[in-house]
Amino acid sequence: MTTLKSAPQRSYSETDHDTWRRLVARQLALVKDLAPPMYWEGFERLQLDQQRLPVQDVMSERLNKLVGWQLSNAQDEYLKPVDWFIHLRERHFPVTDYIRIPEDIEFTPLPDLFHEYFGHLAWMTLPRYLNIVDRITRKYLAASEEERPLVANFWWFTTEFGLIREDGKVRPFGAGILSSPGEFQYSMAHTELHQPFTVERAMHGTAKPYAFHDEYYVIDGFDQLEAVTADW
Ligand SMILES: [Fe+2]
Repeated sequence: MTTLKSAPQRSYSETDHDTWRRLVARQLALVKDLAPPMYWEGFERLQLDQQRLPVQDVMSERLNKLVGWQLSNAQDEYLKPVDWFIHLRERHFPVTDYIRIPEDIEFTPLPDLFHEYFGHLAWMTLPRYLNIVDRITRKYLAASEEERPLVANFWWFTTEFGLIREDGKVRPFGAGILSSPGEFQYSMAHTELHQPFTVERAMHGTAKPYAFHDEYYVIDGFDQLEAVTADW
């Protein structure tokens, strides 16, 4: 595995740290009864600073010690899918380094630090979850040009915007839902938009990076995600 160069650390204002603190406090209160037990296990391992914005190098080192992954730099917008999966193949999880402005507390279309660290990184400390990441990455990189968008869509509707049923309750699973106060509340309230998760549905759903989604697919426990990707 290659060792990544230190990231140039963006400097943050006290307003930025305050946005972080408010987002963490608010979202923890919102999801505390509903986020799945696996998420909390990862959250505990991650040891996120709830007062100050995370430092990429520090968090990268922590992840490396825990599971052998590192953080790499993403542009301040979505990476092209093929670049995204090449990062993942190298065990590098791309993160952005900016935090939303206070006016965008409810919803930001672009993934910011809060999305990366609160939404994704707890999961990324869990070998069982990383096994699924590896499978989706392998599937994508082995797929034909025609099939690749379907696998990218599968990633989108599971790791980014999936819901999961655990202990009889529908819970947030995807990082985009866990990290968005607005879409978390919307997706939980609009149960008429919940559909049972299948590979077909996840591959053909309509991704909406700039708005709330029309449908959410409910994974029937983490076991289902493991079962459907078993031969990927
Ligand atoms: Fe994401």
